[in-house]
Amino acid sequence: MRLGVPKETSPGERRVALVPEVVKKLKAKGVDVVVEPGAGELALIPDGLYAAAGAELGDPWGADVVVKVAPPDPSEIARLSSGSILVGFLAPLTKGETIPALRDKGTTAFAMEAIPRISRAQAMDALSSQSNVMGYKAVLTAAEHSTRFFPMLMTAAGTIPPAKVLVLGIGVAGLQALATARRLGAQTTGYDVRPETAEQVESLGAKWLDLGIDASGEGGYARELTAEEREQQQAALTEATKGFDVVITTALVPGRAAPRLVTAAAVEGMKPGSVIVDLAGETGGNCELTTPGQTTVEHDVTIVSPLNLPADMPEHSSQLYARNVSSLIELMLGEDGALALDWDDEIIAGAAVTRDGAIVHERAKQTQEASA
Ligand code: NAI
Repeated sequence: MRLGVPKETSPGERRVALVPEVVKKLKAKGVDVVVEPGAGELALIPDGLYAAAGAELGDPWGADVVVKVAPPDPSEIARLSSGSILVGFLAPLTKGETIPALRDKGTTAFAMEAIPRISRAQAMDALSSQSNVMGYKAVLTAAEHSTRFFPMLMTAAGTIPPAKVLVLGIGVAGLQALATARRLGAQTTGYDVRPETAEQVESLGAKWLDLGIDASGEGGYARELTAEEREQQQAALTEATKGFDVVITTALVPGRAAPRLVTAAAVEGMKPGSVIVDLAGETGGNCELTTPGQTTVEHDVTIVSPLNLPADMPEHSSQLYARNVSSLIELMLGEDGALALDWDDEIIAGAAVTRDGAIVHERAKQTQEASA
């Protein structure tokens, strides 16, 4: 099998889909890797390191399998050779041009987001690896924008109490945010609509905020709240957020707009100088006053909405992502590094979005068919 690694082209994307360590591992399994010159440049990986790991430097688009980070744009899809395979984040539950274009091109496309979250697929779980980066970086972002110390400071000039940090949404990013904020010395509290997260929050030395709403959905995800539940939640959070210096929001419902947890009234009720870091900007934001991709100050509260935080830590994000991708590639290999897709494997079948000129992922198909 020949594997191609293009240079990412979407604005601000600094990650690369494979790193030299992983190239070496795949080479040992009989896979030939061709890397576009400069592909690792923004992740501070020079071409020479890829060459030393056994990669060829050249045009990656003619390979049997092309591995990417961000969804391909139309010009990239046009460069795929017919019958080739594409692996990457493809946003399969977002209506747009990418999935229909891959279908029309006849590409067999695997979305990293669609890999089933089963134990056997944990090493391939790029949503988790990148969410870990987001949770960590969100806390550092909050600390940077905060005018207050995170740790308790006992000095000759008296004591400064620790910052109080509230994390809303306790998935992978939320758990990492709680752990990181505590390592910086903050007093931490976590909240989610899945009650099973209470134990996980407490295991990280944080308090659990119980608002009495259970919205556990399918497959370990949350469901969308009813209008009544949403109102109840917003009112309770407007009270709760008053006592916090920092609020980090990570709440998502797959394929839906981000739930609105923090209202304008809640922002107004927070102490001047407090900070909100909203990680849900890409789907509209968890805070009513968020401007996706911007840092704004509203009612003396700084609201930061970073997009694509993993791209801000391109070395480690790429390293983790590359390991995820190579675990999936290994599942596609037969004898001597030849391509051998087993369509009876639930990971292969579950991650496929387009195949033989059709959209084969049920929810992706529904998303594309839904009227605009
Ligand atoms: P996510 O990024 O989709 O969502 C983040 C969090 O927001 C979730 O915990 C969700 O419950 C919460 N949320 C949604 N609506 C909310 C609302 N209105 N108010 C408050 N919180 C709200 O979550 P992520 O990180 O993708 O994890 C989703 C699930 O997948 C979890 O159950 C996690 O344990 C599971 N998982 C399983 C893995 C495996 O078995 N391989 C690996 C990683 C995660």
